[in-house]
Amino acid sequence: MSIEIPEGLTELLQRFTVEVLRNQPGDLLEFALQYFTQLKDSETTGTAFGNDQNSATRPSGKAVNFIDEAMQIDSENEEESDEEEFIAPVMSRFIRRASVCAEAFNPDEDEEDKEQRVTHPKTDEQRQRLQEACRDILLFKNLDPEQFSQVLDAMFEKFLDVGEHIIDEDDDGDNFYVIERGTFDIYMRVDGVEKTVGAYDNKGSFGELALMYNTPRAATIISTSPGALWCLDRLTFRRIIVKNNALKRRLYEEFIESLPLLTSLELSERMKVVDVLSSRAFCDGEQIISQGDLADCFYIVESGQVRITMKRTRTKKDQEDVDIATCSRGQYFGELALVTNKPRAASAYAVGSVKCLVMDVQAFERLLGPCMDIMKRNIANYEEQLVTLFECSTTDIEEINP
Ligand code: CMP
Repeated sequence: MSIEIPEGLTELLQRFTVEVLRNQPGDLLEFALQYFTQLKDSETTGTAFGNDQNSATRPSGKAVNFIDEAMQIDSENEEESDEEEFIAPVMSRFIRRASVCAEAFNPDEDEEDKEQRVTHPKTDEQRQRLQEACRDILLFKNLDPEQFSQVLDAMFEKFLDVGEHIIDEDDDGDNFYVIERGTFDIYMRVDGVEKTVGAYDNKGSFGELALMYNTPRAATIISTSPGALWCLDRLTFRRIIVKNNALKRRLYEEFIESLPLLTSLELSERMKVVDVLSSRAFCDGEQIISQGDLADCFYIVESGQVRITMKRTRTKKDQEDVDIATCSRGQYFGELALVTNKPRAASAYAVGSVKCLVMDVQAFERLLGPCMDIMKRNIANYEEQLVTLFECSTTDIEEINP
């Protein structure tokens, strides 16, 4: 006899389990009663359960919002989206840009190499500031020193006042921008309505999409403080960065094709994922992520093994690291904090020499869509491990989210 699992049951139970694990209620039945009553109420009134507006009516305990985020993402994919009713700021992080085609670029055709090199002379002090601003820019991470030096030569500085439009949605792409200082709001038109979908705060970069994929600008960027940007012209960007990405695609094509995480993406989307990945090496025992840290990226294991551990308290003062998983080639970790928008729930250590592909949070968010569902499934695995850990132990697990 085949048993049919009602649609939504798995998700419902997963969400509830997560809430329980995070809130650690003393009275499970009472908690369940409150949880499901509120869930039902929110369904009847059409409000988003757990949103800031109604958080006062949550079951007592720590605030939990990642389930709500997941629900918001789901709602975006539904045709009759009740998006207007979601006011939680996290939602904006997951607005997915319209699909763009990953333009073919043949790295063997050196046509663009014949373009004249662009050089904007700089003082030592300017170059130092520029180098500092570019240190963590993912798109520059795979450049060799000569390419990086050419990029730095070509960049020029732009000072800004409050309220300046650096980019307008739908315009053609002229420059790529690296933030030296200043804050910027990101706006996108969603169903014809202009919405803030995020902000940059004194670091990061933007304006790469139109240059990489030859598409109109996907968002509007406006300064919200005086600031300074370093700009890289379109031709140099394409000659060096896009060409480099094409080579990277070749290098990672096979590996990326084999990742279950990305199977629900179209080929062109998978290739875009490669564009925003960088590779990092770790030596035996090196800590890759630390429990409690803020998250800005997630990792896919390219080679070697990664040990995932969580802190458990034996007594008030005595803590120990408990192994909860091992990740090997093709598996990923560090995504939980991105999905939950909370600090790292576990630590990760290299076992032997390890190479990981790193995807930064901003790039991840722009590409999210289908990845998100798989991420959510993976969260369920973590929760299973937590449950096992509970069962094995007479003591409590340390707070997952300090
Ligand atoms: P581009 O399309 O060239 O110009 C607008 C830029 O806004 C875009 O590249 C990205 O760098 C940046 N941006 C920030 N958030 C988003 C987002 N959610 N979707 C698309 N672009 C974004």
